[in-house]
Amino acid sequence: MRLILLGCPGAGKGTQAGFIRDKYNIAAISTGDMLRAAIQSGTPLGNTVKQIVADGKLVPDDVMIALVAERIVQADCANGFLLDGFPRTIPQADALRDNHIAIDAVLEIRVPDTQLLARLSGRRVHPASGRVYHTFYHPPKVADRDDVTGEPLVQRPDDEEETVKKRIALYHATTEPLVKYYSDLNDQQAPRLLTIDGTGSVDAVSQRIFNVLSAVSTSD
Ligand code: AP5
Repeated sequence: MRLILLGCPGAGKGTQAGFIRDKYNIAAISTGDMLRAAIQSGTPLGNTVKQIVADGKLVPDDVMIALVAERIVQADCANGFLLDGFPRTIPQADALRDNHIAIDAVLEIRVPDTQLLARLSGRRVHPASGRVYHTFYHPPKVADRDDVTGEPLVQRPDDEEETVKKRIALYHATTEPLVKYYSDLNDQQAPRLLTIDGTGSVDAVSQRIFNVLSAVSTSD
């Protein structure tokens, strides 16, 4: 199973990616997590992208395409993978097709903009694992501590309100056109385009996702 997750910042891509990874035993690849790990470690890539990510802007396509190309050939992707945060532009989507990387389904998670700010302002993350919590909607067992390791949770610097607004606007302008891009494809490489309602509880959204994905996995 090879999947792409699309959705606004805060739509729940990272949250749901963990459940999909566990159910289908595929690698969950979050380009945002990869960039944050590089920033945290102070690698040359991290130093190049640090300000771009903090400002809520997009990292250049050539950098992202090279990063993903290197990642999806790793052993843990042999059984399939889920791309969370890639592609984000038409050139990134073209790069997948130009390199004949077949994708089974593109799953768009839709949440109205009005709900996104509340989700992102309460978000807390465990940087080492990428596990995502919310102070109200999806709290950890112990406040501000990761459920598995007990390590401290942090707030992402790009979750500051003004930056979130910029990221949402950028999604609508640059990434949302990928929905039309994929719906217009009708050749053999074309993935299925699935749209689900991302509102309601985390469990309700997972259930909707598993329902639509079970149709994909049984028809293949
Ligand atoms: P990235 O990390 O990909 O950020 P994003 O796409 O903006 O998405 P988010 O992680 O903010 O949201 P999410 O949908 O994963 O929501 P989550 O599950 O956490 O990218 C960060 C940056 O990296 C970009 O801005 C860019 O600079 C750069 N970048 C990355 N990829 C790139 C690319 N391909 N090209 C160029 N640049 C790139 O949920 C959010 C909160 O809501 C959590 O607190 C969660 O607990 C809560 N929540 C989840 N589901 C529900 C629910 N159903 N009800 C209530 N609360 C919920």
